[in-house]
Amino acid sequence: MKKIAPSILSADYSKLGEEISAVASAGADYIHIDVMDGHFVQNITIGPLIVKAVKGITDTPLDVHLMILNPDNYLQAFADAGADIISVHIEATAHIDRTVQRIKELGARPCIAINPGTSLTLLYDILPQVDMVLVMTVNPGFGGQSYIQSCTDKIRRLRDYCAKMGYPVEIEVDGGITPDNIKDASDAGADIFVAGSAIFKQPDYNAVISLLKQNAS
Ligand code: DX5
Ligand code: ZN
Repeated sequence: MKKIAPSILSADYSKLGEEISAVASAGADYIHIDVMDGHFVQNITIGPLIVKAVKGITDTPLDVHLMILNPDNYLQAFADAGADIISVHIEATAHIDRTVQRIKELGARPCIAINPGTSLTLLYDILPQVDMVLVMTVNPGFGGQSYIQSCTDKIRRLRDYCAKMGYPVEIEVDGGITPDNIKDASDAGADIFVAGSAIFKQPDYNAVISLLKQNAS
C-alpha cells in the first residue's frame, strides 16, 4: 500500500493542531516536518519545540526531514522531541555512516535524503545500513515548486539498484507531488509520497489524500 506524508510546511500555522488532526483523520500515514536552517537551504522553518508539540497531539508517526548542516549536532534534540523517522541529507554531513548509526542509537529510523543534482552513487555504500531513502524531486527549501521530471528516472534507477542488490529499501519522494504526477513517481518505484501544497491548499483533505492514494496505486 502506497503511503502519503502531508508536509506541514504548507499548513496554516495559526491553527497547526487542527491542521494535523485533520490530515491524520483524513488518512495521512506520516506527518512530514521540514526543518530548514538558512544555511543548507535558504529558508528557515522550525525546530525541536514544534516537533515536540506535534508529537503531543497525534499518534501518526513523525517524519522529520532535516535540511540543515551539521545534523549530528541536533539528532538528540529531534529524537527526544519525538521524531520517528529522521532524514539527513547526504550532502549535509561528511560522515553519513556515523550519523546513521547515531540515529539508530537514539531509537529513530534513519533515512538518507538526496538532492536532484546529487549522484545516486554516493548512496551505494550506506544503503545496506538504511531501509529508507528520500529522493528530492525539487531543489529543497520551499514548498509549492514544480516536480523536476528527470527525477522520475532517478527513482527508477534507485529502485532497480536496490532490487538488484536485494536491499529492502522504501523510497520516499518529496517536492511537487500532485494527483496528476503521483502515478509516474509511483510506477518508477516510489512507496511514500510527501505532499505539501497539493494537500493543504485544498479545502477537503479527505478527498485529496484519497485521490493521491488512488492515483498512486
Ligand atoms: C521542500 C520540502 C518539502 C515541501 C514539499 O524543501 O522538503 O517537503 O514541503 O512541498 P510541495 O509538496 O508543496 O512541493
Ligand atoms: Zn521535506
